[in-house]
Amino acid sequence: MRDLALYREAARAGALADEVALVRALVEKADLDAVDRSEISTVACNLIRAVRGSGSIGIMESFLSEYGLSTEEGVALMCLAEAMLRVPDALTVDALIKDKITPHDWGAHLGDAGSILVNATTWGLMLTGHLLDDDAEGVVGVLQDMVRRMGEPVVRKATREAMEEMGKQFVLGRNIEEAMRRGRKMLASGYTYSYDMLGEAARTNADALRYHEAYENAIAAIAKHVTGEDARDNPGISVKLSALHPRYEAGQRDTMLPVLTDRLLELARAAKTAGIGFNIDAEEADRLDLSLDVIEAALANPSLEGWDGFGVVVQAYGRRAGHVIDWLYDLANKLDRRIMVRLVKGAYWDMEVKRAQVMGLRSYPVYTRKAHTDVSYIACARQLLGMTDRIYPQFATHNAHSAATVLRMTAEDRTGFEFQRLHGMGKALHEEILKEAGTRCRIYAPVGAHRDLLAYLVRRLLENGANSSFVNQVVDLSVPPESISQDPIDAARACEFAPNAGIPAPSEIFSPRRNSRGWDLTDPVDLARIESGRAPFAAPYRWSAAPGSRLSGVGSGLRYIRNPARPDEVVGEVDEADSARALAAVGLARAAQPAWEATPASERGEILKRVADLYEEHTFEFLALATREAGKTLLDGIAEVREAVDFLRFYADEAVKTESGSAARGVIVCISPWNF
Ligand code: FAD
Ligand code: 2OP
Repeated sequence: MRDLALYREAARAGALADEVALVRALVEKADLDAVDRSEISTVACNLIRAVRGSGSIGIMESFLSEYGLSTEEGVALMCLAEAMLRVPDALTVDALIKDKITPHDWGAHLGDAGSILVNATTWGLMLTGHLLDDDAEGVVGVLQDMVRRMGEPVVRKATREAMEEMGKQFVLGRNIEEAMRRGRKMLASGYTYSYDMLGEAARTNADALRYHEAYENAIAAIAKHVTGEDARDNPGISVKLSALHPRYEAGQRDTMLPVLTDRLLELARAAKTAGIGFNIDAEEADRLDLSLDVIEAALANPSLEGWDGFGVVVQAYGRRAGHVIDWLYDLANKLDRRIMVRLVKGAYWDMEVKRAQVMGLRSYPVYTRKAHTDVSYIACARQLLGMTDRIYPQFATHNAHSAATVLRMTAEDRTGFEFQRLHGMGKALHEEILKEAGTRCRIYAPVGAHRDLLAYLVRRLLENGANSSFVNQVVDLSVPPESISQDPIDAARACEFAPNAGIPAPSEIFSPRRNSRGWDLTDPVDLARIESGRAPFAAPYRWSAAPGSRLSGVGSGLRYIRNPARPDEVVGEVDEADSARALAAVGLARAAQPAWEATPASERGEILKRVADLYEEHTFEFLALATREAGKTLLDGIAEVREAVDFLRFYADEAVKTESGSAARGVIVCISPWNF
């Protein structure tokens, strides 16, 4: 029990830990000498050559290599794929297609890609672009007239089908029966499956119940195909916790946890009875801590005793990964269970980076260099392979170097783990590994209707469209195999483990202006700090406000301010100004104006910045005030303080730029919005 709590605490404390120190330690933990590392690169290099020579590089991989996120066209397609299938009305769809397709130079991609499909799609896009172009002439103009006569539905339908085709590459079947039918061929070649029922981030309880039912049905259907006792040989299922509860979020912990745990347990029991593996996917970093609560509560349930099929995913890009693995191992020990752990790099990287920036966090919950994530993957693999008495590691990767590292680490015995890949990706690589090393491989196969695919599809497009990704490089024949199979430890060392300079810390993204300091209410450490910080401001009659000590006379009278959430709680009192005092206040301000005007803009800016710093210093009191006086949620309180701080710093800088030498604006009366 003690260790469990300690690992959990370490994970919490390490959520945004210093990247340099972490990666340095990961290199030690990876424990690979020069011979190992050079051997791994050689094997990886051979794998890459084999993949390139196999002639079975996926259509999708070629497509995304051509239309990656570094091209305008790739971004346009991404936007189209992201939005089109959920736009309900034809008019908006037409406008969207026109907006995304017309302005781009599709012809420039023609013939570059070796794949017929990519070229065909390019033709289609080019034609669509021209057809929608208002100024088209000649043959295209004629065609355009024709399409106009037939109406935009032609283009709309074609584009919609292209988007659906793109989605289909990643989905094994529209329902579990179809998926299992389509999966037979791969089963025959020695693969197993983990089916993923599409649908995540349930918005309503009805959604959550629908997804729950889909999982239940899938487990029942999979159960019919179970042959042996061993979950490792049987097909399995992957579940996303966000699908099972519409309020799977830290703020709802107390009410949500029991419900979500019950729903999860129901499914886990069914999987246990069926003898199949049951895997909990890893999602956003702000839900990691919460997911561990759910996992602990579910796994501890006596009904799961004696079952080896419960699985958890760990994301190596997360700075907490090592602690989470320690915690899982300890949990399995404590409960006397064997569990499965799938190691991935992580599918939400872009989002994690953006979220930390928006929230003004101290740092990022993920690594900022691809090589650092790769090193972390190696260190976590090493860690998991030392825990096989309790953990069955599942290495999910499409990267030849990461896979070659696992092969090197397990050269003596390759029975205690499996590889995994996603349906529609990494096929050639894993064929080769299966052939060469005979290791087990499981395919993660999304199953479901198109309308539920979107989030998954976007993650795949981001992942494969990034030019740093392995699959993107492997299809780009201009990148030599030696470069793709480069040792990430060398790469990390060459930069002295420093964070990516292109991704400044969240506090520095507006540099030289400092971003306002943010607080993460999903982070138990931040939350505890806020709670203790605002505790001193909880007493009644805490604040007393009067319109300025230099004003004489009495106001229009004292008024009690009550907590809108607790009307019998008096928060403080305010002495409202009457018109005479308002006038007197304006007079004071006007009297101060000449001196203020004479102050250089830079100095006035410095004063604003000092005010900003003071706001931040008194954040806890403002949070208490915003909550108790205005009935704001903590999140709104934080936003309010941050907005004030950002405005002050922003205008302090602008003043110097635009107002240098000119006069200050003068006295201004501002009636602020009620909610400020
Ligand atoms: P690589 O190209 O070697 O790695 C790409 C990854 O590197 C990116 O996805 C990102 O994680 C990381 N990265 C990219 N740029 C940077 C950067 N600048 N700084 C730091 N890191 C960077 N993902 C989940 O999140 N949860 C799951 O439950 C999950 N289940 C999966 C199951 C299977 C069977 C498989 C194969 C994948 C699963 N994934 C899951 C997705 C997985 O995270 C991605 O497929 C994976 O990150 C791609 O890694 P790679 O080794 O194949 O490719
Ligand atoms: C995802 O849904 C595969 O779980 C991973 O992106």
